[in-house]
Amino acid sequence: MQNVTDEGDAMKRIRWCIIGAGGIADRRAIPALLEDDQNEIAAVMDRVPEVAEEVAKKYGVARWFSDEEEMLRAVDCDAVYIATPVFCHKAQALLCLKYDRHVFIEKPLSMTEKEGIEIVDAFKKAGKKMMVGYMMRYHNLHRKAAEIIKDGGIGKINLVRMQFSCWYPEIEGAWRQNKALSGGGCIMDLAVHCMDLFTCLTDDWIDQCHAFYGTKTFQYEVEDSAIISFVSKGGILGHIDVNFNVPDAAIASKVEILGTAGSLVAEGTLGQEERGMLKYIYAPQGDYEAQQSASVANAKEFIGEESNVYLKQFRAFNEMLLSEADYSNAERALKIQALCDQIYQK
Ligand SMILES: NC(=O)c1ccc[n+]([C@@H]2O[C@H](COP(=O)([O-])OP(=O)(O)OC[C@H]3O[C@@H](n4cnc5c(N)ncnc54)[C@H](O)[C@@H]3O)[C@@H](O)[C@H]2O)c1
Repeated sequence: MQNVTDEGDAMKRIRWCIIGAGGIADRRAIPALLEDDQNEIAAVMDRVPEVAEEVAKKYGVARWFSDEEEMLRAVDCDAVYIATPVFCHKAQALLCLKYDRHVFIEKPLSMTEKEGIEIVDAFKKAGKKMMVGYMMRYHNLHRKAAEIIKDGGIGKINLVRMQFSCWYPEIEGAWRQNKALSGGGCIMDLAVHCMDLFTCLTDDWIDQCHAFYGTKTFQYEVEDSAIISFVSKGGILGHIDVNFNVPDAAIASKVEILGTAGSLVAEGTLGQEERGMLKYIYAPQGDYEAQQSASVANAKEFIGEESNVYLKQFRAFNEMLLSEADYSNAERALKIQALCDQIYQK
């Protein structure tokens, strides 16, 4: 079997190891990797040995470990997927680098921007490749919206609003509810996706932000509610609200982009599945309309095809493995950490 470092015409195989097998790795990432013939999973590791064994057996992976260094020493692989609590990311990414491996790290990249810079600089220096798992940018409706915006289809953007919530009550021992392990609550978990998506949609950066946030409903120490106001480098004003205390079925996620010639509204597109709908209104207007009798006769609706954003993100990573290193994803992930630091005033 050829792997990514081999020369020749045959399809390049990519051998993966997994660190942190039990959560999103099991639910989404491993199935997505295995959907593509190009990938092979050589070994899985989890801090909990039973989890490593169970996941390995479930997916027919030959080897499993409960120590990451032991796995990296023993198993030949091209890339490592890291899906552990955020406080583990830096040490595990740098360990992979020590063993000369490329890495795909789940979002958010790190606890702070400073930690993130240490990771990205080390990968750049070593010429190894890395990517952070902001998969929502691969959603076909987000791509469609970005294309409409790029073609000038809603004119000049003035405002972007995003809202992303879920129900996340107290769970004994949950790392996300412990600030020292997660770095924060719904901002580090949910708002970071919105920040990445803003850049994907507008090709602009969030430059400055200010937030009100707190723990309103639950007893844990991280925030369960937040509103973030921002301004982009290009002057777009925006708003992100994220909550851990809204029932899943009570509200669909929403992304609204208002421009001088129209608008785009995506509903139900933020999340782990490629679903939802996108409404596009093109309605350039010359004169002031005193009657204010707006009609939306020229609204178009797009329904997303069912696909898999995780599969697409790994394909993007694999393409990078087989070509030049591209740190633009890592740089974006760093800017997101800088915004989180700004909000938390770290
Ligand atoms: N992109 C997405 O859609 C998405 C969704 C959920 C989580 N995430 C990210 O994935 C990462 C993991 O989140 P999760 O929801 O899977 O968490 P989880 O707690 O559900 O699963 C984490 C797994 O890692 C294991 N683990 C814990 N500490 C470890 C260590 N030091 N070494 C090895 N294994 C360890 C745990 O036993 C568990 O099996 C986080 O960065 C999170 O933000 C991304």
